[in-house]
Amino acid sequence: YHIEMDADAAGKGAYPHYMLKEIDEQPAVMRRLLDEYLDADGQLNISPELLQAMNAADRLYIVAAGTSYHAGLIGKTLFESLVQKPVEVHVASEFGYHMPLLSEKPFFIFLTQSGETADSRQVLVQTNALHYPSLTITNSQGSTLSREADYTLLLHAGPEIAVASTKAYTAQIAVELFLAVALGRHNQLVLAEQFDVHHELGLVATGMEALLSEKEQIETLTTDYLQTTRNAFYIGRGEDYALSLEAALKLKEISYIQAEGFAAGELKHGTIALIEAGTPVIAFLVDEKTIAHTRGNLQEVTARGAQALTIVSERFAQEGDQVILPSVNPLLTPLLGVIPGQLIAYYASLHRGYDVDQPRNLAKSVTVE
Ligand code: G6P
Repeated sequence: YHIEMDADAAGKGAYPHYMLKEIDEQPAVMRRLLDEYLDADGQLNISPELLQAMNAADRLYIVAAGTSYHAGLIGKTLFESLVQKPVEVHVASEFGYHMPLLSEKPFFIFLTQSGETADSRQVLVQTNALHYPSLTITNSQGSTLSREADYTLLLHAGPEIAVASTKAYTAQIAVELFLAVALGRHNQLVLAEQFDVHHELGLVATGMEALLSEKEQIETLTTDYLQTTRNAFYIGRGEDYALSLEAALKLKEISYIQAEGFAAGELKHGTIALIEAGTPVIAFLVDEKTIAHTRGNLQEVTARGAQALTIVSERFAQEGDQVILPSVNPLLTPLLGVIPGQLIAYYASLHRGYDVDQPRNLAKSVTVE
């Protein structure tokens, strides 16, 4: 059969690596998603059947692997804030063999860029056998998880070639936002009704462009802080913790630096023992409620010799902060926060001379359990 492929979308063009191209595509993906999911009158075009099926559930279960799991952690906050429905997020390979006690009326959301991840699929096979309703959010129309779930929403991110996932993560968060707003509006919840998706995501796209236009700064910070280190820590609380997990995963995958994302408040309960003179600790300071506490944790590590680097929202920035994120709706700050995380991983890999797009031991799509 015939596969339609846009040569430009699949090729690297002038880019040295797919990863850098895909990072740069993120503002365009945000705008494309607005075109795909918003009607001319600003209404979200998500099928009423899907909204009803989700509405009938008493709990949402998000199941995913890798970067998609991290996008699910952000989705939990979006759904719980905008829909007021409890959400659990699970790693597919754990859930499949240790299924937790489920609520009475669960609804399953599978997040998967490829739509082919075996760990996620084996959960779907089980939930189908139990006749639970499900939705797959994927970049790949016609993929296995899309065919086998009741509903599909597409990421419209274009082909993602680099093994380290970037634009699929931000696209997943955007689609989760659409779904949460649509479901909240379906239930006439004020926060969802007042959420101007077009405006807020438009600001995100513009903010992404601003960050992406200052790559040199991130490149310099990366070589200053991470060029020779064997390990590094990302810390944050709340959504900043979820971001820390994703930023650390990116760094591990392609630069082979032993990186971990930690809940900032949990550091003192063990991990702080690993801090030595020069250990890089990168803090996300985006979540308003916890910034002051995370700054306190940073002082604790710098007092023990750590080299602190801060990624902070414009409105909370102080003198000495290094990476400043443009202000956007607080629910959407992870869409901006992840960009420096992606770029730090890219430059760390590049300057260590590794194969950015094809890291050792990893595959783009893992079809074995
Ligand atoms: C592989 C990739 C990761 C990806 C994970 C889940 O491990 O290397 O980048 O996040 O699979 O993939 P999926 O296609 O299900 O999102």
